Amino acid sequence: MCGIVGYVGRSEAAPILLDGLRRLEYRGYDSAGIAVVDGDRVETRKCAGRIVSLAKLVSAQPAAGSSGISHTRWATHGKVNDENAHPHFDARGKIALVHNGVIENYQALKKQLIQNGDTNFRSDTDTEVLAHLIGSIYDGAVAAIGDRGQPGSATPATTSQNSKARLVNAVRAALKQVIGTYGIALVHADIPDFMVGARRGSPLVLGVGKEENFLASDVSAIVAHTRDAIYLNDFDVVAVERDKFEISSLDGAAGHHAVSKVEFSTEDIKKGEYAHYMLKEIFEQPDSVRDAMRGRLTYEECTAKLGGLNMTPAELRDVSRIVLTGCGTALHAAMVGEYLIEQLANLPTEVEFASEFRHRNTPLTRDTLVFAISQSGETADTLGALRESRRKGHRTLGICNNVASTIARESDGGVYMHAGPEIGVAATKSFTSQLVILTLIGLLLGRMRNLSAAQGSRIIAALEALPGQIEEVLKLSNQIKEIAKKYADVSGMLFFGRQFNFPIALEGALKMKEITYLFAEGHPSAELKHGIIALVRPDLPSVFIAPDDTVFSKNVNNTEQVKARKGPIIAITSGNGAKQLKGLANDIIEIPAVLEPVSPVLTVVPLQLFAYHLAVELGRDVDKPRNLAKSVTVE
Ligand code: AGP
Repeated sequence: MCGIVGYVGRSEAAPILLDGLRRLEYRGYDSAGIAVVDGDRVETRKCAGRIVSLAKLVSAQPAAGSSGISHTRWATHGKVNDENAHPHFDARGKIALVHNGVIENYQALKKQLIQNGDTNFRSDTDTEVLAHLIGSIYDGAVAAIGDRGQPGSATPATTSQNSKARLVNAVRAALKQVIGTYGIALVHADIPDFMVGARRGSPLVLGVGKEENFLASDVSAIVAHTRDAIYLNDFDVVAVERDKFEISSLDGAAGHHAVSKVEFSTEDIKKGEYAHYMLKEIFEQPDSVRDAMRGRLTYEECTAKLGGLNMTPAELRDVSRIVLTGCGTALHAAMVGEYLIEQLANLPTEVEFASEFRHRNTPLTRDTLVFAISQSGETADTLGALRESRRKGHRTLGICNNVASTIARESDGGVYMHAGPEIGVAATKSFTSQLVILTLIGLLLGRMRNLSAAQGSRIIAALEALPGQIEEVLKLSNQIKEIAKKYADVSGMLFFGRQFNFPIALEGALKMKEITYLFAEGHPSAELKHGIIALVRPDLPSVFIAPDDTVFSKNVNNTEQVKARKGPIIAITSGNGAKQLKGLANDIIEIPAVLEPVSPVLTVVPLQLFAYHLAVELGRDVDKPRNLAKSVTVE
């Protein structure tokens, strides 16, 4: 949800900023802009559209200077146009500021500024109000004290130090008045080689280089320059110079933060031979699934080892109830998790939309364990749910991909996905990793309760077979592409599944909606006859996820009902399923036979490929679908 990159160093800032923005474009792509400090001016280039348009603008009118800030926007306040693109300026045009988040009380702050005579607003954004507020406080301080202090007492160096301190103080004072969320970076025309960053609720990382330092919404923007990163906390303010930085709190107390090593390199965030990141990430699933279980299975005891949960066996044994929460694809993983944990561990498990959970009073027992599931670890609603759960005193664990993300850091423990960077806006490999981790959790809790060693070892064998089986499914990509071409003119699509594969129907429909923009809905197969069947018609195909499992024959009944009403059917099946569906389904995709509880890890892969190939056929922008952003850091 908006990407920020800032730079102070010895190199030209503009190319570094543009390159960083390209890597953050998945966070938003409505408009983009940069501001570079050139002597005593701030040169800004910004426009509606993508980074490619901004790059053209910068190449036509270069902006020179070795410090600057930049932004790629996912619009929240104000429509998508050049004026609303970041950076935004204060009233005197001296401070340029980029922002990720929402200033909820911006209208009240704006009214107050206008009453004080500041009417020079050029955009409809909340961000511009913050820039004006910081500018008015800074200018007020400079006017009151003067930059030179007592006549004759100041050297240029102390003058510059005074300005820096005043700017940081102005940022602090302004942010204390703000209600809402922010990750910000700003520069001042009169203070070259200096930038200020701050965060509350929106991620911001400081990249520590040699005679150069960076600010970014996420490390992928800066990993080409440094792998030393400091993940800022809420209410941190950081003053950044070429060869030093100072982190403090909003109240001015000094902060101490450890430098972390970024685990991945620029190679991991390249598309390589693939046409799209989404396709690359679909094809990475044999490895990402393997990585999600690596070192986490114990064959002797037929169970899982999850040391990151930070819970003793006795504490795990005492858990009486589980809540799984998340949004979008992560919520679908949670829904599979509910079936898994209840089946394997016989523990009451519930799934809560993070956005609902955080605002309602779900009755929870003392021994309820809450899991917040999030690829990015930054989703505002999931973070809100985590905080609410912790506030109520529940032990709350994270299942995250993004190491050192806010959710990972604020949880009492958790399990990392180790899926590697996921850049495509449509989540794919993170989903299958979440499914594997939820199976491990079910296995661990199950082996402490009613799951026998033999049952545990069957689960382990099924998990270990998955990477090879996914490879088999990936070989069907061309067949699925041909099927997708056949359905390029449909008006929409329905997805059906039962039991473990009901959430996969939801996930298949979500992928289809997100990247093809086709109307798509997922339902439990049996719900068909309770109303949805009214939609069935020749131009609305139904996709049945019907592996050869305990509910296969029930699924077949439902396909008959669709067939009788002339609805086209695409079936994903396994084992003997294809034989029985022949003549019923128009198209059949056969996947390897798989143990029922882990079958979603396989059944979802053809659906990812189906949505992908159909989107390409329709000419959609697969990695950057309309109106979406990868990481939703606003409510
Ligand atoms: C999935 O394709 C979507 N882009 C979206 O639903 C996503 O899963 C959701 O926003 C949650 O993201 P998170 O896993 O980073 O929290």
